[in-house]
Amino acid sequence: MSDQPQQTERRIQADGIQGQVDELLRRMTPAEKAGQLTQYFYFRLPEGAAPEPALGMDPDAQPRAVEQALGRATVGSLLFVTDPAEINRLQRLALAGNRHGIPALFGFDVIHGLRTIFPVPIAMAASWDVETIEQGQAVAAREARAVGIHWAFAPMVDIARDPRWGRIVEGAGEDPFLGAAVAAAQVRGFQGTDYGQEDRIIAGPKHLAGYGAALGGRDYDEVNLSEYELWNTYFPPFKAAVEAGAGNVMTAYMDLNGVPASASRWLFTEVLRQEWGFGGFVVSDANALRNLVTHGFAADLTDAAARAMAAGVDLEMAIQDPAYAHLPEALQTGAVSQDAVDAGVRRILEAKLRLGLFDNPYVDEDRARQVLADRQHRQVARVAAERSAVLLRNDGNLLPLDPDGLASVAVIGPLADSRRDTLGPWVFDFDLDETVTVLDGIRRKVGDRVRVASAPGIPVVQRVFPSMFDMFGGNRPEDPEGFDAEAEFRRAVGLAEAADVAVVVAGEWQNMIGEAASRSSLALPGGQLELLQAVVGTGTPTVLLVMNGRPLDLRWAAENVPAILDIWYPGTQGGTAVANLLFGEVSPSGKLPFSWPRTVGHVPFIYSHTRSHEPQNQGRRYWDEPSAPLFPFGHGLSYGRFVFSDLTVDRPSVPPEGTITVSVQVTNTGDREAAEVVQLYLHQRHGTASRPVRELNGFQRVTLSPQASKQVQFKIGPEHRRYWSTTERDWVLDTSIFDIWVGGDSTAQLTATFAQDGQSGR
Ligand code: BGC
Repeated sequence: MSDQPQQTERRIQADGIQGQVDELLRRMTPAEKAGQLTQYFYFRLPEGAAPEPALGMDPDAQPRAVEQALGRATVGSLLFVTDPAEINRLQRLALAGNRHGIPALFGFDVIHGLRTIFPVPIAMAASWDVETIEQGQAVAAREARAVGIHWAFAPMVDIARDPRWGRIVEGAGEDPFLGAAVAAAQVRGFQGTDYGQEDRIIAGPKHLAGYGAALGGRDYDEVNLSEYELWNTYFPPFKAAVEAGAGNVMTAYMDLNGVPASASRWLFTEVLRQEWGFGGFVVSDANALRNLVTHGFAADLTDAAARAMAAGVDLEMAIQDPAYAHLPEALQTGAVSQDAVDAGVRRILEAKLRLGLFDNPYVDEDRARQVLADRQHRQVARVAAERSAVLLRNDGNLLPLDPDGLASVAVIGPLADSRRDTLGPWVFDFDLDETVTVLDGIRRKVGDRVRVASAPGIPVVQRVFPSMFDMFGGNRPEDPEGFDAEAEFRRAVGLAEAADVAVVVAGEWQNMIGEAASRSSLALPGGQLELLQAVVGTGTPTVLLVMNGRPLDLRWAAENVPAILDIWYPGTQGGTAVANLLFGEVSPSGKLPFSWPRTVGHVPFIYSHTRSHEPQNQGRRYWDEPSAPLFPFGHGLSYGRFVFSDLTVDRPSVPPEGTITVSVQVTNTGDREAAEVVQLYLHQRHGTASRPVRELNGFQRVTLSPQASKQVQFKIGPEHRRYWSTTERDWVLDTSIFDIWVGGDSTAQLTATFAQDGQSGR
């Protein structure tokens, strides 16, 4: 009830917005409307950068062409500018060129921070901590809005079950339930309760839909997914993002079941708008509408424009020569309807009005500087990095290290002191000077008490095929001048031998993961395995820190390295967080958001497979290698010790629309305060389809002091038990028995059951 005045005010505002939009629509020409439906990259290459031919643009002509378009009001939105002075300058050009006074909308890939860089998204998901995830994107939104960015092309909510696909790093992993929770938290973080508020920006979940299932894990390649997988696995994070109020959705590059996703009326009109009630605007992925011709789908750009518009794509993101420049022509021939075009323009204008851009188109450049320098933001990033690290192995409790019991540490590996790699991919506005590497973090933590020696040990590794991202400064790694590989290897191993503990940082250079960074192998690149083996061979107790955005082949390490901590690309404050974890100031609490395959031959890999012939041989599906994962989904150790007991359900059976309450007691029997992610898994025994052996259906993070205990409750409502059934071609709640397991990972053994009196349909 207390919300009512606010709601009324919003309605009045909304009515006001509609009136203004109607008026503008009446006055705009078809070319001006097409302009509002066009978004350009503004691509000023960094000083001295060589243009990447794959971008297909002339680096000098491109920004000039965009400025001319602003002057003619044939573009209404820009991306890839982060300097507030530059944004103000471009906004002035936009307003001077637009006789209706319509300001430009600025978007950017604010993926894991703008200036304060957070751990990469897969790491944030590994925290299973929705509050921290929300806070992180709220910081990112504040920094972005301060420089004049109104909209993030994030979160990426694509389910990824094949880690060969480089963009697994941008999402929340393999699971739809975790993916949905993480997606909603990010939308809330970016937008708050309304993106029109101060310090907020529009969230744009992407890429609808199925991009993560690219054939062979090859970026941009086609996807074939059944409706069963789409509804049950790939759509839930999008639906959750829409329900959280996302103002935008982005299309995907590839063909989905034989139709370019960017021209799928089914996706953008039937599913997104009609089924989920999405009221925001849809943007194409970059150049994806021109691609409709590349795909062999549209005959030409006019056809592409007409079909994308009819599908429900409102805004075209383009580098140059957009298809939507042909909309006036398509209107003339009747290939596209005036109503469709007006509906698109309406959604864009609504967003601009809701953001308050007509009243406040410019940003305060001094304030931007202050916001970007906010120390509080760095603290949030440090906590996020601490919570996202996953302790994969800790044999003999090698961790935490006791600084008082150590005289020396050797920090080994080419990633140990690489600022750029510590930040991870998909960042552009970072400050390398303030970035804390693992080596920096350890040095600062132990001060003069412990001798810290360091060596890269091996040369950096280059991609076989360079990426378009390599043209941005510092993205291509380089060896120090005069690097002598053999001597360096010997030196690194010598340092390890002489030290009380060796810390090896190994993984992938950041330009090996992300967009256009798919891989045919999961091996540690370069000589990193040999280096690790040599260090372990010295007999010095060794800790492996994995810097990665995808699971790597750690079979040797999992048997031979006593302690393995996955630190991902931990961001600006990464080294500080890692040192806090290594020396026990905080306990690791992250959990894997994917099943960790043993080898690339395992992929795609999921824990939530169905049961089939010879289930007793599930771990022996290959003759040459166990088919169980190296580490299961949800796995992550702690310096605490958690015991689960007293699992109860509040009633033996539940009607279709009923909710069941599950309780469990969690006790920390260890001697350190630590956080545990309590996970609940569900399994339907029989029904109108075969259901997965278990699926995540609830999780909660709890922090417990030594010997403390807490009762944790989960509600299992119909929305958790309902699924899309292939036999019914509909949503069903089957009559069945359900098994529940609760524990600290997806192999949890504590179990209970309940029955459901079923009913098909919604
Ligand atoms: C990516 C999108 C991104 C866009 C703009 C595309 O290549 O697929 O995820 O938002 O570029 O940078």
